[in-house]
Amino acid sequence: MLRPHPFRVLPNPRARGPGMTVLSSSGFRRAKAEITSWSGYTPTPLRDLPDVARSSGLAAVRLKDEAMRFGLQSFKALGGAYAVGTLLLNELARTGAASGATTADLEAGTHAPVTRCITVTCATDGNHGRAVAWAAQRFRARCVIFIHAGVSQARAEAIARYGAEIRRVPGAYDDAVRDAAQEADAHGWHVVSDTSWPGYTEIPRTIMQGYRLMADEAADQWTGDPPTHVFIQGGVGGVAAAVSIHMRARFKPSPALVVVEPDRAACLLASAQVGERTAIGDDLDTIMAGLACGEPSLLAWQELDRAAAAFMAIPDEAAVETMRLLAHRGIESGESGVAGIAGLLLAASDPAARASLGLDGESCVLAFSTEGGTDAALYTRLVQSI
Ligand SMILES: Cc1ncc(COP(=O)(O)O)c(C=O)c1O
Repeated sequence: MLRPHPFRVLPNPRARGPGMTVLSSSGFRRAKAEITSWSGYTPTPLRDLPDVARSSGLAAVRLKDEAMRFGLQSFKALGGAYAVGTLLLNELARTGAASGATTADLEAGTHAPVTRCITVTCATDGNHGRAVAWAAQRFRARCVIFIHAGVSQARAEAIARYGAEIRRVPGAYDDAVRDAAQEADAHGWHVVSDTSWPGYTEIPRTIMQGYRLMADEAADQWTGDPPTHVFIQGGVGGVAAAVSIHMRARFKPSPALVVVEPDRAACLLASAQVGERTAIGDDLDTIMAGLACGEPSLLAWQELDRAAAAFMAIPDEAAVETMRLLAHRGIESGESGVAGIAGLLLAASDPAARASLGLDGESCVLAFSTEGGTDAALYTRLVQSI
């Protein structure tokens, strides 16, 4: 289905049952109750791709399509927005301003005089910052978003549209993370980061609980034989870990989870190779902007280290070709959105990869298109480029 492209597959040398509970089931129940109560909430579609399955020699391929999530074009609203709402409610309770407030109260502006004095901030490649800015506007907080030099102007404008102040800083994603943390420290702002590190886990954990809703919907929408494989893209690994945890909760036996990264930003694969969470020194120069991360999230790694079945690294060209393949089927999926299914298409057409991942004519595969064409001009250019 795709032209041949070089790619890497690493069966997880440490794969076995995960030993640590990273996300509690009660935390997910709270996230689900909250997010599904928001106006505008509706499950995104699970798209069946029978011709892709047939030509790849698989029983089924289904793609969860996040392009329409809350009008924000990516799954990220489930995490960042949920974390902003939770943080504001916690702040109202902690400071004694309002102990039983709800996000409906925040949206109605009931506590706006207090919440407007609370600043939320984060670093982003685009999608997470857009979700945080959207929630800050909706829940009446101030918002400052840090973007690095490589974030496109269109993505910056999409964030600014929600009233956030944008600060562009030199360097890459990890530099923006550092700057956001420093400024937050200096001014008493609240960092809403989608990656975690030792000593900073509460908010990223909340974000990952929100991401699980995407997997939960997919499990509800799934019909017929259960999924045998899940292909999910990795940036810092937060969404891959959330999907992994949720698939384990919903399916027994749990499907084999394959984490797919850009070959120029494969920090999860590199970590699996050395057996511990590892930062990579690569230039992270990939068009898959949402996946251009150099260091795994601590929480994500605690799950994926043992729960992932395999890691893959794919080139940009495979992502672009997959965008076009999906566009021909009426599915709009952006550069980072296609990575999981691009990995599947590459692996399915390679006998050695098929064998090592256990892909065959009985395999039922779930993949996630985690974004639509979040930079419209770039999307059009790439889809028309081949
Ligand atoms: C569209 C899209 N897909 C996947 C990811 C990867 O998520 P994570 O960093 O949690 O691995 C991102 C991250 O920004 C993204 O924007």
